[in-house]
Amino acid sequence: MQTYKTLIAGQISQLIDSVTAEEIAGWFEYPPNPEMGDLSLPCFKLSRTLRKSPAAIADDFKQRLKLDAVDKIDSAAGYLNFHLDKEVFAGGVIRDILEQRDRYGSKNTGAGKTVVIDYSSPNIAKPFHVAHLRSTVIGHSLYRIFSFQGYSCVGINHLGDWGTQFGKLIVAYQSWGNPDSVNDGGIDELLRLYVKFHDEADRNPSLEDEARAWFAKMEQGDEEALRLWRWFVDISLKEFMRIYELLGVRFDSFAGESFYNDKMSAVVDQLKAKNLLEEDEGAWLVRLDAYDMPPALILKKDGSSLYHTRDITAALYRKETYGFDKAVYVTDYAQNLHFQQWFKVVELLGCEWSSELAHVAFGRVSMEGASLSTRKGNIVKLEAVLQQSIAKTKAIIEARNPEMENVDEVARQVGVGAVIFNDLHANRIKDIDFSWDEALNFEGETGPYLQYTHARASSVLTKAGAEAAASREGLVLTHLNHEAAFSLLKELSMFGEHVEWALNKLEPSVISRYLIGLAQAFNRFYHHCPILVQDEQAREARLALVSVTQTVLRSGMHLIGLESPEKM
Ligand code: ARG
Repeated sequence: MQTYKTLIAGQISQLIDSVTAEEIAGWFEYPPNPEMGDLSLPCFKLSRTLRKSPAAIADDFKQRLKLDAVDKIDSAAGYLNFHLDKEVFAGGVIRDILEQRDRYGSKNTGAGKTVVIDYSSPNIAKPFHVAHLRSTVIGHSLYRIFSFQGYSCVGINHLGDWGTQFGKLIVAYQSWGNPDSVNDGGIDELLRLYVKFHDEADRNPSLEDEARAWFAKMEQGDEEALRLWRWFVDISLKEFMRIYELLGVRFDSFAGESFYNDKMSAVVDQLKAKNLLEEDEGAWLVRLDAYDMPPALILKKDGSSLYHTRDITAALYRKETYGFDKAVYVTDYAQNLHFQQWFKVVELLGCEWSSELAHVAFGRVSMEGASLSTRKGNIVKLEAVLQQSIAKTKAIIEARNPEMENVDEVARQVGVGAVIFNDLHANRIKDIDFSWDEALNFEGETGPYLQYTHARASSVLTKAGAEAAASREGLVLTHLNHEAAFSLLKELSMFGEHVEWALNKLEPSVISRYLIGLAQAFNRFYHHCPILVQDEQAREARLALVSVTQTVLRSGMHLIGLESPEKM
């Protein structure tokens, strides 16, 4: 649709001196029902400039505009409504998609720019919980959206791999653990030891001192302490990597919190030099009263650093290393204040680029109504959720299609897709509830529905034979005049705009919802317009539309991290 907006806006701007085509293009609206036209321009935007009523402007333009791509222009209540020429439109959309294929919809606005995306970032020795899953899925989708628009992306997993908890873990391991139990039990065993430490420390507070001593050793580079720490990190990463593998998620860097250990003192010096640090009972902090926020704690009494210190240091490091134009952080909204605070500190440090930092916050997830927390007794293991989703999907596929060959592969793609889509279908800030019935529904607004629609398009194309679908010269587009075909073409033409919105709002759900609309439009077309008909011209034209729909569905699904099996 962008093309048509540009085209029409260009013509209108030639009739007015003081307004640019871009401005006009930005004013277009989509009429609520197709009878009113395909694009409309609210003319009140122009009444001040032209000193005329919107209705008079609309009437005037209606007379003077002559556009090949437009069949009819109505003037109604101060709106100019454009009815596109169906054939010109169909030809244009199909040609664009066939030419640009999997680049269709990209405006390449990010060429030469870099964005750093901090996502997933689970904590070592703790279970990978549901907030990390959401962060992973949202961050990964943003990564793909930015890449698609031509940005060069750096995906960073800011692992929570440093802190006093590791001192506790070492004490617990030495008191109640052994190598085999940790190797076999993995994060579960590490968590058991950690919980046991707290139980025991209630009775025996000296354990806390021991733990502090071990953490101090870690900070001083003690070999034994670091050896154990590294082992805990490896064990945890092994489990995290299994989840990333299932999800198809990758990172460019695993520089976690510990990576900044030797880089923080320089930042603390910088804060001091700028007179931002204030001592408070032996601790050091940056006051933020003037901005209605509690202070940002930079150093504890014992001189150790904090979450804020690491994030500020990491931001400076990333700016210097990657020269980013934008840096985004994906966490749940419980961390809103944390990010507001340290973004402000970076600004106070005099970094004018602090405005390039963005916190992408998201809501909480519950599971069939029950809240998911990693606190004692209420742990839902993410890997188990994914495996369960795969198993349930496999059963559904086997019931529908007992002959299927690569059922395990498809069950993985679809089962995982269901979980991913569930995380991405609503505005990220909303809390969501996971329900198996909803997530695995092949007809509802779900990941499997999108994948099923894509597989349906693929199967038509396969039946028609690759050649048939590949010959696109001289399509007779009158065969796409049906209202259902036209609506589908309109959906296809709006892909690029949705990519742009999703990027500007840092909101993958824009794509998810767009894809649901696209899939629905395709299924209506499929229902109303028989494709594999005798009439060769009709068949060719409709196959072309199926083929370009398949392309856009696949691109869009890729942007939200969904795979597109050919059969299911
Ligand atoms: N590890 C943190 C947590 O689990 C998330 C880290 C997010 N990234 C960051 N740069 N603070 O809550």
